[in-house]
Amino acid sequence: MCGIVCYVGKRPAAPLLLDGLKRLEYRGYDSAGLAVQGDKGTRCIKSVGKIEELQAKLNNEELPGQIGIAHTRWATHGKVTEENAHPQTDDNGRIFVIHNGIIENYQSLKEELAGEGHKFKSQTDTEVLPHLIEREMSKNGNSLRDAVRKALRKVDGTFGMCILSSDHPGQVIVARRGSPIVIGVGSDEYFAASDVSALRRYTDQVIYLEDNEMAVLTLEGFEMSTFQNERVARSAETVEWEPDAAEKQGYPHFMLKEIFEQPETLKNALRGRLVPGEGVPKLGGLVPVWEKLMVCRHLIIVSCGTSYFAGLVGRYVFEELTDMLVEVELASEFRYRSLNFRPDTAVLAISQSGETADTLAALREARRKGATLLGMVNVVGSTIARETDAGIYIHAGPEIGVASTKVFTAQLALLTCMALLIGRHQRLPVTYGIELIKALEDLPAKVARVLRRADRIEAAAQKFHKYDNFLFLGRRYLFPIALEGALKLKEISYIHAEGYAAGEMKHGPIALIDENFPTVALVPRIASYDKMVSNLQEVKTRNGPVIAVATEGDDAIHELADEIITIPESHELLTPILATVSLQLFAYYCAGYRGCEIDKPRNLAKSVTVE
Ligand code: G6P
Repeated sequence: MCGIVCYVGKRPAAPLLLDGLKRLEYRGYDSAGLAVQGDKGTRCIKSVGKIEELQAKLNNEELPGQIGIAHTRWATHGKVTEENAHPQTDDNGRIFVIHNGIIENYQSLKEELAGEGHKFKSQTDTEVLPHLIEREMSKNGNSLRDAVRKALRKVDGTFGMCILSSDHPGQVIVARRGSPIVIGVGSDEYFAASDVSALRRYTDQVIYLEDNEMAVLTLEGFEMSTFQNERVARSAETVEWEPDAAEKQGYPHFMLKEIFEQPETLKNALRGRLVPGEGVPKLGGLVPVWEKLMVCRHLIIVSCGTSYFAGLVGRYVFEELTDMLVEVELASEFRYRSLNFRPDTAVLAISQSGETADTLAALREARRKGATLLGMVNVVGSTIARETDAGIYIHAGPEIGVASTKVFTAQLALLTCMALLIGRHQRLPVTYGIELIKALEDLPAKVARVLRRADRIEAAAQKFHKYDNFLFLGRRYLFPIALEGALKLKEISYIHAEGYAAGEMKHGPIALIDENFPTVALVPRIASYDKMVSNLQEVKTRNGPVIAVATEGDDAIHELADEIITIPESHELLTPILATVSLQLFAYYCAGYRGCEIDKPRNLAKSVTVE
């Protein structure tokens, strides 16, 4: 959602800030703004729409200065207008604040401040922040740093923010509670951002602020402290991925690049984690809770969006390989369930970003109920990674396309590893472990084989992209993949699509089937094959067009399908991964033929940081 970039150094700030904002575009936004401080004071420019529009305004203005803050806004409180874009300022236009998150008590703060004569120009919750800081400075004579600290004590809610003041030149203050801020340490220059990808081009040395911490950045360096004014010392970490990992590298879209990266991301996710001879994976991140996990019989998986579908596949896999009872819950619904938290309950949060607000809220609720908290996240140092007792990093590299692809398949592979690890300690024989590990080792090459057929999938998309409705059907492990295939198509091509458990077809969706309602059927040669074939016969009888995702060499399926997308034979537990890759490509090409903005679908955000 919203994005933050800040620079303190010796180079002109504006181009660096704009470049940083561009790298955060993928998160989703509707307006942008920046404030740059130079010898002649601080200039602030904002605009509705794309960063290009902000850039066009900038090109007409002199904006010298080597310190600045910049923001992309995704509207929550107040419409998409220039007044509501950030930076937000105080009455005198001397304090500039950019903010991610939500100030929950902004209404009462606003009334209080208005009662004291403060004038508000926007409908945002953020605007109370510069006013609160100004009040602390003018009434109580505080320094900027103390004024920020005291102002923040009055605030409920979440924030990652940067503050610049015309009366305190040469410094930027950054603060965090619940919304990420990372500081980038360069040589004689410092950055801060809501996401490493905004600053990775300039440095690989980063420090993540923890909740209730702030930092003052100046040309001389930076000082970190808590909101209680205790000094914080933490050394910088090295970012593991190269800057070009967040570039398109010749692909027309990040999504296509990320789909094609999957053989590599799967290798990276599994690297060092498979011990073939013992038929058991190695997941060092689970060591801190291993004893507890061994006695744990109840696993609750919480997640949102595509990560939720990974959880649904995970349930089948865990139940197949372990003695655990597994529940999968949408994080946003978790709080409404009165779940049975036995002492042997673990909660596993699955999240690409590690920042999804609902997933975090669900974790915190589970913490209150005494569960052991586990995380499976892609973004190193993210909030979920830090708030869980133990976990597994996905190691899929930065994912920029809003629609999650490579992280999903890596999540599936790692859920399989986790279940195998636990299952081998519970009941699975070594021979089973060896066989599954071998299949995991062979997986990247099989994914590459699906990718080599992209032209066939594109041809299917060319033929079918004009239909307005699709049904996706699957059984067992492939039921969640039907849901994911339908979601991908909806997200990026705006085609209405429903994912269904094939057995449910007769309980409703079959009423819709006719020659204008294609069905995408996941029908590889696994245990559910015969039942799926019967479902397809029912579709065909009603003249419904069929696209079948089938196993290579399955000639029998030709009679039932108008289009066939083949995937290689593999271990049954890994067919969801191969089927997913074909559906990702199908959605991608349909969106392309429909002229959609694939990497930034309308209204969607990469990281959903509001509940
Ligand atoms: C957003 C993204 C999806 C993602 C979901 C959950 O809706 O557009 O691609 O699956 O959030 O995000 P998470 O980061 O928790 O996996």
